[in-house]
Amino acid sequence: MDISEIWPPFALHLQSGDMELSPVRETDIPELADIARGGVRRDGIEAFLVDWGSGTDEQIALSLAQYHWSTRANFTVDDWTMEFTVRVDGLAVGVQGVNGHRYPLTKAVSTGSWLALPEQGRGYGTRMRRIIIETFIRYFDATRFDTAYFEGNVASRRVSEKLGYSPNGHRSTIGQNGTALTEHHMVLAAENYVHTDSDLQVTGAEAFRTFLTIAT
Ligand SMILES: CC(C)(COP(=O)(O)OP(=O)(O)OC[C@H]1O[C@@H](n2cnc3c(N)ncnc32)[C@H](O)[C@@H]1OP(=O)(O)O)[C@@H](O)C(=O)NCCC(=O)NCCS
Repeated sequence: MDISEIWPPFALHLQSGDMELSPVRETDIPELADIARGGVRRDGIEAFLVDWGSGTDEQIALSLAQYHWSTRANFTVDDWTMEFTVRVDGLAVGVQGVNGHRYPLTKAVSTGSWLALPEQGRGYGTRMRRIIIETFIRYFDATRFDTAYFEGNVASRRVSEKLGYSPNGHRSTIGQNGTALTEHHMVLAAENYVHTDSDLQVTGAEAFRTFLTIAT
């Protein structure tokens, strides 16, 4: 028996050009821990509500592993998080996450991502989000994409803007260092998305649709 028969998300594979996304597997974790060494924050700007990216390299590796195990253990049809290992030319460069809440009814997902520091600012963040948007519109009937960034995270804001997201309010929250932070929300309606990725190849979509109980 293959593990993807037990856990159908493992059958998903999204590819466009030299970039491929597939759900984080056990064997990816050491590679991801290696590229996350020293953390991934750009210019020290806070990026995540959950503090997995600070501390020693050993602490980062352990937080990263436990976080990825938790997403699988806590996955339900009503509330799920999928994390994809992003590879370019076969080498891991970062992680793209997707969350769905009551997805068969809402058809809405939110996203979050990170790239290894040397891989930031090379257009990968935009490409990996685009792959997710295209896949979820074409294969999983998504109608809405939400995302958020903390004040000052220009790279994250620009990725969303470049893909057609609009501002959708903000809230005050407390950052990892205990100070107040403004979290900006952005939203993209599928009908406003301009399809440009004609290279996208997706496998495993049907099994994932069934797993998510999306009606055909
Ligand atoms: C956010 C992140 C995933 C974006 O990926 P990326 O590959 O760096 O982004 P891209 O190269 O695709 O695009 C970044 C855009 O922001 C712009 N940008 C980045 N920093 C900027 C700055 N300080 N001022 C102005 N523009 C900036 C870039 O010029 C680019 O826009 P352009 O193509 O119009 O020139 C990546 O930077 C990252 O991992 N950051 C650390 C973790 C993080 O913040 N995750 C997001 C949590 S919401």
